[in-house]
Amino acid sequence: MTRRSCGALRARDAGSRVELCGWVHRRRDHGGLIFVDLRDRDGLTQVVFDPQHAAFAPAEHLRSEDVLRVCGLVRKRPQGTENAKLGTGEVEVAVEELEILNRSLVPPFQVNVDENADESLRLEYRYLDLRRPRMQRNLTVRHRIIKAMRDFFDERDFLEIETPLLIKGTPEGARDYLVPSRLYPGSFYALPQSPQLLKQICMIAGFGRYMQIARCMRDEDLRSDRQPEFTQLDVEMSFCTQDDVLETMESCIGNVWKRVLDVELAPFPRMTFSDVLERFGTDKPDLRFGLELAVVDDVFAGTEFVVFRSVLESGGAIVALRFPGGAALSRREFDALTEEAKLLGARGMVWVALGVDGIKSSAQRFVEERHAAALAKRLGAERGDAVLLFADDRVAALGVAGKMRVEVARRTGLRRADAFAFCWITDFPYLEIDAETGKPVPAHHPFTEPAPGEWDLIERDPLRMRAQHYDMVLNGYELGSGSIRIHKPELQRRIFEMLGMTAQQIDEQFGFFVRALDYGAPPHGGMALGIDRIAMLACGEESLHEVIAFPKTQTARDLMMDAPAPASEKQLRELQLRPQPRA
Ligand code: AMO
Repeated sequence: MTRRSCGALRARDAGSRVELCGWVHRRRDHGGLIFVDLRDRDGLTQVVFDPQHAAFAPAEHLRSEDVLRVCGLVRKRPQGTENAKLGTGEVEVAVEELEILNRSLVPPFQVNVDENADESLRLEYRYLDLRRPRMQRNLTVRHRIIKAMRDFFDERDFLEIETPLLIKGTPEGARDYLVPSRLYPGSFYALPQSPQLLKQICMIAGFGRYMQIARCMRDEDLRSDRQPEFTQLDVEMSFCTQDDVLETMESCIGNVWKRVLDVELAPFPRMTFSDVLERFGTDKPDLRFGLELAVVDDVFAGTEFVVFRSVLESGGAIVALRFPGGAALSRREFDALTEEAKLLGARGMVWVALGVDGIKSSAQRFVEERHAAALAKRLGAERGDAVLLFADDRVAALGVAGKMRVEVARRTGLRRADAFAFCWITDFPYLEIDAETGKPVPAHHPFTEPAPGEWDLIERDPLRMRAQHYDMVLNGYELGSGSIRIHKPELQRRIFEMLGMTAQQIDEQFGFFVRALDYGAPPHGGMALGIDRIAMLACGEESLHEVIAFPKTQTARDLMMDAPAPASEKQLRELQLRPQPRA
């Protein structure tokens, strides 16, 4: 008698006696026999209870998710009853011995189907949700991705170095999670938003090539592609160029895709930030489809149409987007599309339908054949298509057209679920304006080196300065970012000063780091990739919840453990913390 997994048995095993352990996936009573699909991580096996065996009577009371050990004879299924969808579908096990290892209550949702469970219930009863084949498959893929990454970097002589979780904050643009110190009342550790400064210090310490599968914590607004706690593939290299980092990370991802998904990736195209904004209206372009935008100010030069004229006179732009097959939309459908564009931030939208029987437009009086012909030429549009036009200040018009480009692709089925379109974006601006404060802040982090030849802009015109920063993008998601770092202490101080920090603030927050730069820091650079996002896209999922074993809700709660939870009086006393009464 050998113990086998529930996914292992094949026709060649017929005649052998085996032991299987697993959960009742499904039970069916049929013509005097009881059939149970027994499930473990590896798969399903049909086990059969015959009324002539003693095991039959207890099997009559089996329910979904009971845990069993069965022993029996493997036999081929009768002809015509095989299940081609299952690896084990040619055989079944005739049970001779049954042990019920444990009983299950009735699950709050069906474990044996992947869909249709309420999201909160899934998170509250996560152990049941994780039993589902889809979750078992996704977490297996995630494991393989991480394993392939570790192997790749090990082969290239990188060291995995663990950095601490209780640290002084590393800024990545979010709020820190703080941990109060018992020994130093009133003082706090910060949980790392990333290991950024520590990995740079590993370079200063002479390790040369570092990697880590690193947990990061950020207290920020959550979305389907953001969790408060997530995992990065974090990498840093000394004496490297930007090209070295890009080549390393691209090879790593090529390797992962080949090993885990058996997909051969083409070289990733590289685009600059300004180029990609003009062409796709975003720095995270979805390149699974074309539909490139076009600025068509020239087409409408001298127009009488007051909306376009006033935008052009005030230095704005008119941005055009092709909608394949869009001429078939009714006026009402175009109206709905216009409302959607407004929700995405458009001031308005003009549509032009290039119908086979002539042009129709929401600005009919002002759009002539010559305009339509010029738009069609510029966008590669054909009869039967529509063109959507957005007029606003240039960045806003491009941004909204970029969002509508994704919407049009969704409606026309251009976003193929099984396609992987990677790209690199380079030459980012160093600074951006913070939406909350209106002040310039680093678009990435303040340890990035400005573009060569632009350092004099630090004091003169910092908003024009570019960074040696790069992002990896897949199917419209930012997978990761990195940069060549500042390794000269004087330059680091100039950047902090540019951000408005006083010498005292620099010393309090980053004194340890600038001091480390003072002791022979090598030139270095690196990158971090979001492993959760990679796993999500590799699994064809649309939410990080599907690839993280124990995720948090959109409001940062763990519904299974019910965290966060109040601390006890004793804990608060020891930490000398007093909760503020709720306002
Ligand atoms: P950055 O902040 O861009 O860079 O993060 C790198 C990647 O981590 C992933 N990521 C997240 N994933 C899930 N939930 C989140 N809340 C979340 N935040 C970020 C994304 C992102 O692209 N220290 C730098 C890297 C470097 O310069 O080397 C950093 O952390 O996929």
